[in-house]
This record gives sequence, C-alpha cells and structure tokens, in this order.
Amino acid sequence: MLQGEDPTAPALMLGSHTDTVRSGGNFDGVVGVLGAIETVRLLRDGGQKPRHTILVVDFLGEESNDHGLTCLGSRCMTGELTAADLDRPDGEGVTLGDQCARTGLDPSAMISQSWLGPDEVSAYLELHIEQGPVLEQRGVEVGVVTAIVGIERLIARFLGRADHAGTMPMSDRRDALAAAAEAVLAIRQLGCDAQGAGVATTSRVTAVPGSPNVVPSAARLEAEMRSTDPVWLDAARAVLAQEVAAKAGALGVGVELDWIHDNQAQKLDDSLQSVIIGAAESRGLSWAPIPSGATHDAVHVARKIPAAMIFVPSVDGRSHCPEEMTKLSDIANGIDVLANTILALDRR
Ligand code: GLV
Ligand code: MN
Ligand code: MN
Repeated sequence: MLQGEDPTAPALMLGSHTDTVRSGGNFDGVVGVLGAIETVRLLRDGGQKPRHTILVVDFLGEESNDHGLTCLGSRCMTGELTAADLDRPDGEGVTLGDQCARTGLDPSAMISQSWLGPDEVSAYLELHIEQGPVLEQRGVEVGVVTAIVGIERLIARFLGRADHAGTMPMSDRRDALAAAAEAVLAIRQLGCDAQGAGVATTSRVTAVPGSPNVVPSAARLEAEMRSTDPVWLDAARAVLAQEVAAKAGALGVGVELDWIHDNQAQKLDDSLQSVIIGAAESRGLSWAPIPSGATHDAVHVARKIPAAMIFVPSVDGRSHCPEEMTKLSDIANGIDVLANTILALDRR
C-alpha cells in the first residue's frame, strides 16, 4: 500500500493472483502482483506523493478449484460468493466451506458481504500476461483488454450397458464411452464454428468398468465453453444439449447434463481503457484492443467499480503449462504503462 495525501479520496487498487494451475507456469497472475508492487516501489522511490491511496491486492484462488469455482478472493471481496457456492463438494464430497474452514477462514464471513464499492476504491487495474499468441503474432507490445469471456461448464453422464466386449455384436451394444467420444467431437466442432472469441474444450472423460474386455457401461465427461458473446454462449448450450442427446440416443445410451455457470462475459471500463491507451502512447509503446479468452478477477471487480486490464505478450502464446514465458522487457513495458496509468488517474 502507498498512503495517499487525501484521506477522503477513494483508493486505486492494483493486483492479480499468485496461485496457478497444477503443472502451470511462473507468470500467470504473478506478473500482475509483482508488477503492482513494483509500480508502488517506482512511485515511492520517484518521490511521488499520490493523492489517492494505492492498494495492492493478491486474490486467493483465482484458478478453478476442485469445487468448480474460479476467483474465490474477488468473489468474496465483491459479495458474489453465496452459501450455495460454499456447499459445492469436491470429488471426495468435502464442501468448499469446510475446505475454507480447514485453512482457518470463517466461511460465514466470506459470503454475501461486499467489501468493495466506489466510495472505497475508484478503479481497479490488473496487469497480466496475454496467455495466447495474438500480441506476439501482431508484434504489438501492449494489449488493452476490451472484454473477458463468460464461461459455462458441462458435466455429462452417459449411461449405457456393460456387455462382453468379444461376444456382443457392434450393432447391439450400448457403449457409454462411444457416446462420450461423440460428445467430445461435437464440443470441439462447436468451438471451431464459433464466432468471435468463442471456444469449447473437453478436459476430462472417465469410463467404467475400465476393463479391456467389457463394453463401458457408464462415462462422465467434463467440458467448458467460453465467449465474450452471451447470446452465442446461450445458443451454444442449447445446440450442444440437443446434439449430445441425439448422438447418445442413436447408440442406445442415456445422458444427463449438468451445467455449471462460472461467470458472465464482462466488458471492461471504456474510460479506463482510454487512460491506458494514453499511457502506452506517452511511452511510445504500440498497443491493440484485445478480448480475453482467460477469465480474471477483474470480471468480478468490474461489476462493482470501474476495472481494466493491461496485457503483455506471451512467448509462443503458451500458458497453463511449464513453458509459460513472458520476456522481462515486455513485463517492464507493462509496469511502465501501469505506473503511468496510475499517475494519470491520480491527477483526475
Ligand atoms: C483462468 O486462468 C481461466 O481462464 O480459467
Ligand atoms: Mn491469471
Ligand atoms: Mn490461469
């Protein structure tokens, strides 16, 4: 934190997250938190005495957890976390609330209470790696994020029939895993046909009994769809439900679909985007508007106060893998833009 000169002025908040996915890299989120700390250090060491207090935040649990929920910290801060969220079980049946209590948090203090409003904080800025290839491919130094995708997740359960894999004729089988495989391809096709920033991914398929000589009797599939266009996302859900059921039905397999809404698509603040663009141009850096296919804490913060994001290029567009990498010079550009954006906002 850097204390502002005017105790009545709302703070400016900077940050991101420091946890990441299993087997992930070293830059997702960390660049935003360390970049925020470095920004405060630059301002302090440069003798700047900002009018607004500058807060640095490191949000807990940004990545999707074992309970299927992203952005735990920012949901808490904005009062979006609900009692139903705390009841979400993980694979072992332990609820999110119990898991939080185990780590010493008080679950009842985490829900339905907003700690954030325009009287306390007037703007949130998040520096982040792009996590995709667009900036690098276009040779652009800074991305100004226009919107963040909405996410709908799917759990599909296929119910077929176990039979002898050597004796039951192909035409008489009710193979649950074959129905799940048809669904994987339908999900992929939906993503390939999507407009704009729409994508669709199956991340896991499991089947029982898992014996080489038994036709699979049941399968479970986990997938997600993302888009900045809520109309596409809604329509895609309906199309997929119909297609998965039809393909499973043709194989004599029953299917149950559970949809888990993660977050709604969120536009970021136009006026803050203009200030970021001004800061990039004042430093002679090239910039481009860019939608974010990854989700971020900014989604939740943006529902309470103006929020914006600054992207810096990812080498080869790789992220959520150990090869995730952003060049130091690109991180320095991002911090430069962040610091100059803060100075411009402080003068407003
Ligand atoms: C987080 O990185 C996400 O986009 O799921
Ligand atoms: Mn992140
Ligand atoms: Mn991530």
